[in-house]
Amino acid sequence: MTDNNHRPVARIAGTGHASGTRVLTNFDLERMVDTSDEWITARTGIKERHLVENGTVTSDLCSDAAKQALADAGLSAENLDYIIVGTVTGDMKFPSTASILQSKLGAYNASTFDISAACSGFIYGLDIADSLIRSGRAETILVIGAEVLSSMTNYQDRKTCVLFGDGAGAAVVTRSDDDRGILSTHTGSNGDLAHLLYCDGGGSLKPAMNRDLPFEDFTLRMNGNEVFKHAVRIMDHAALTALEKAGISPSDVDMFIPHQANIRIIDAMAKRLSFSRDRIMINIDRYGNTSTASIPTALNEARLAGRVREGDVVLVAAFGGGFTWASAVFRM
Ligand code: ACO
Repeated sequence: MTDNNHRPVARIAGTGHASGTRVLTNFDLERMVDTSDEWITARTGIKERHLVENGTVTSDLCSDAAKQALADAGLSAENLDYIIVGTVTGDMKFPSTASILQSKLGAYNASTFDISAACSGFIYGLDIADSLIRSGRAETILVIGAEVLSSMTNYQDRKTCVLFGDGAGAAVVTRSDDDRGILSTHTGSNGDLAHLLYCDGGGSLKPAMNRDLPFEDFTLRMNGNEVFKHAVRIMDHAALTALEKAGISPSDVDMFIPHQANIRIIDAMAKRLSFSRDRIMINIDRYGNTSTASIPTALNEARLAGRVREGDVVLVAAFGGGFTWASAVFRM
């Protein structure tokens, strides 16, 4: 676990997002598996998700989101000291998606690496970016959460295929010279829960070259019920820890942006932390669960809609496979 509690040194200076262009609605899914719009809406809050067209890869979504974030920050790709991409569905096993993105952007002054922390990857990246800027090792860092989850979703498994979408969200993090910036970050994990949410095919455990492996081994598998129970508890803990580290209470937060995994998890948290709907960003109905892309996508949409403005205090919290969890408080 890492924690910090400090005055802002690094701030989010620009944001962007990209999503798949193919919309898959609940009614489309009714024709694919034994499910219904009614069940999906009631149990998850999802109405549709955006998937990529064949041939579009994770780094393409990253590139679109990154260009928007750089333009928003008034910076160019040459300004980047690091590119950090949180993803579990990178373009290939190696090199990293961050390296491929570097070439697409022409960001040749940057060091590059990916983070594998599932849905918490973007906030893990934010935490690392804050530390690098705080230590004086970097001035400007591109942090991205991106997934093409359709590449490891089993569209014959109704328990998972109704949940996920493809997308990327980006933030340019740079040195702050005023009171705007990252006020606290918190990260943690519990590997004992790894068996609840995983894809075990394609690594050294079950190499892709073993042709006897069933197709399901290369798809995401999840014990949804168990994940749900842990998620509610972990998200609460993560959010409260970040607030405590920042020295503020839920009432000081202008906008809460939770990981968009399930509307029931979001509602349960909102109730316990006393957040009314007008102080919570929700877009799960349109995107489904885009894993690590969900929070930066929602942040960018909130800014574009004027729901998060300059000077607003934002709380973000996520959990995901690993289990991992992460949270942060920042002033835009
Ligand atoms: N349509 C219709 N029925 C369904 C569907 C579906 N799409 N999926 C499951 N069911 C059925 C089940 O088969 C079961 O039927 P049964 O009682 O006859 O066996 C019944 O609905 C209840 O199933 P549960 O799994 O108990 O349903 P639950 O209410 O828990 O909802 C869900 C399932 C939506 C997956 C929920 O558990 C959830 O959201 N879990 C958290 C998932 C999550 O947050 N993942 C985040 C991490 S993802 C990442 O890291 C990439």
